[in-house]
Amino acid sequence: MPVAAGREKLKVLIRRSAIQKRVRQVAHQITKDFKGERVHLVGVLKGACIFLSDLVRELSLDTSIDFIAVSSYGKGKQSSGQVRVLKDLDSSIQGLNVVVVEDILDTGLTLSYLLRILQQRKPKTLRVAALLDKPSRRIKDVKADYIGFKIPNEFVVGYGLDYAERYRNLKDVCILSLPTE
Ligand code: IMP
Repeated sequence: MPVAAGREKLKVLIRRSAIQKRVRQVAHQITKDFKGERVHLVGVLKGACIFLSDLVRELSLDTSIDFIAVSSYGKGKQSSGQVRVLKDLDSSIQGLNVVVVEDILDTGLTLSYLLRILQQRKPKTLRVAALLDKPSRRIKDVKADYIGFKIPNEFVVGYGLDYAERYRNLKDVCILSLPTE
């Protein structure tokens, strides 16, 4: 069982074995869709780092990787609604098949902002792979082309996702409840 800090509680939502299986399926789909072409993965730090590292190793394609860091959440569970680029891409994406790799699609504010700024840089194609999708929380009308799992409106941690920078190392995706809840 994953270990929670203090009086926080963790409940497993998606087991590591299910994640592993689904990541493989998503990778096979991307491999099929881009057969014979190069794919440039853009990981959204920090949450997507673990998903990206598992995903890229399952792709049978010519691949390259870059990262962008954005912030919309600060330290808590609520989105501030304002997205900022904290670390930009290292290189141009012009003419590339770009797949943005996200940990979770929640309100959609982060992704719609990202897609807007990346589209301006003239990639050949621009797609999105999100490990998790919380469709009930959507404010912006954005969709991921590849989705690992649709989940209910719960705050989750693990497999890269954090609460105040903690719990990213959990192998399962877990629902986090705080003592006040
Ligand atoms: P959005 O802009 O509301 O779609 O939020 C996207 C970002 O918020 C994600 O990339 C995560 O970093 C963070 N986020 C949203 N929901 C959760 C959650 O349940 N747990 C941890 N982080 C989350």
